[in-house]
Amino acid sequence: MEYLFWRNLGIVAAVAIFAWKARGRLGCSQLFDRTHTKWDIRKAVPLERRMVYDNGLGQTPLMGWSGWNFYECTINEKIVYGNMDALVRLDLPSYGYNYVIVDDCWSAYKRDKEGNLRSDKKTFPSGMKALADYAHERGMKFGLYSDAGRMTCKCHRAASEGHEFRDARTFASWGIDYLKYDNCFHKKNRPSHARYPVMSEALNKSGRPIFYAMCEWGEDHPAVWAGKYANSWRTSLDVKDRWPRIELLADDNNLWASYAGPGGWNDPDMLQVGNGRMSLAEYRSHFSIWSIMKAPLIIGCELRTITKEHLEIYKNTEIIAVNQDSLGIQGRKVSRIGQSEVITSCLTLTKLCVTTQVWAGPLSGDRIVMAAWNRGWKRALITINWYDIGLEPSVTASVRDLWKHEDWTQRQKDGFEVEIDSHDCGVYILSNISMVELYFNSGR
Ligand code: GLA
Repeated sequence: MEYLFWRNLGIVAAVAIFAWKARGRLGCSQLFDRTHTKWDIRKAVPLERRMVYDNGLGQTPLMGWSGWNFYECTINEKIVYGNMDALVRLDLPSYGYNYVIVDDCWSAYKRDKEGNLRSDKKTFPSGMKALADYAHERGMKFGLYSDAGRMTCKCHRAASEGHEFRDARTFASWGIDYLKYDNCFHKKNRPSHARYPVMSEALNKSGRPIFYAMCEWGEDHPAVWAGKYANSWRTSLDVKDRWPRIELLADDNNLWASYAGPGGWNDPDMLQVGNGRMSLAEYRSHFSIWSIMKAPLIIGCELRTITKEHLEIYKNTEIIAVNQDSLGIQGRKVSRIGQSEVITSCLTLTKLCVTTQVWAGPLSGDRIVMAAWNRGWKRALITINWYDIGLEPSVTASVRDLWKHEDWTQRQKDGFEVEIDSHDCGVYILSNISMVELYFNSGR
């Protein structure tokens, strides 16, 4: 035992000393070269996007508000009514945020005598139909949460496994427009692809179009099969108001880019902008990358007390337009300089290294959106090469900066360079692209 302990300690120390010395001698850029995914943006329309759940919803990623990230299990109807009023007062539905969603903790621990789900009498005394009516009267939609198991995840309330058709009918009778369907406490040996299609069929037979948001955390790789059954599917762990978690979710969600499209989207979880534990630069990056990835844009903060700066991020109409673009192709990471994500999260000493990334995706109207994301700890110069997205260097294009709301005076050739603060993200649209071949829209 003792021998093993000293041997392992010796190995760890030797690796740490080697890494430290190598960093000093070689410098980060030599240790970790520029990496390209060799993605030709012009051929980016994927075949996988052919499977579509036939409820006609989710032609663009869903936008709305949910109380979960801020309130978790302390949610009640007063909070929901208050945030609905705030949504309207802040004019957010006209920016597209029109689904109001109540996550876990709305339902009672037990079903009623007939076996129907019902709301918690103490926290939601008016009932869920009253809330849905309130949303509808103000031109918004209303969404609820349930679970493909015996109990809901954090609040342990009654859930829907084995009651799918009854519950879907209940939701429809209350006027529900959206269902988030979680993954806790299910029967053993029943993987997601056995449980989630049942609720899909039940919702489609409920007589009401209900947006179906699967939430099985990417366990069974839903991107590959869920397009036929749902309008969105979570691809990873729960979001946190912490920078490393935002990086992790972006990287996980990026893997499934080719499976997203109108009718069915990858979901890296809700937005944390406004919850206070990240900087404005970090929230700008979170919002930018989620938008480029065509993720659902679900505001996850308290709206009655939101600050002006956070609201400005949510109200950037140019970034929202990227997310809601009619082409519906998920943008992705196209090049990277710096250490791999694994090394970033494992070794704090690599904080001294530069880590910059370029993300990009095609937009309607023969345009391209590009993001320069600085994930490192220092201000950095980021080079955006046409080469990285399969454009010839001789191509020229007009550039618009979507955070500064400025058109650049000169057309750019070959690419361009921008300086970006640590953890911030610049977003640019290339348009009037010379020599562009018009196959962005092919196959659609
Ligand atoms: C899971 C989900 C979260 C949230 C909670 C509620 O953790 O992934 O998004 O819905 O359950 O309990």
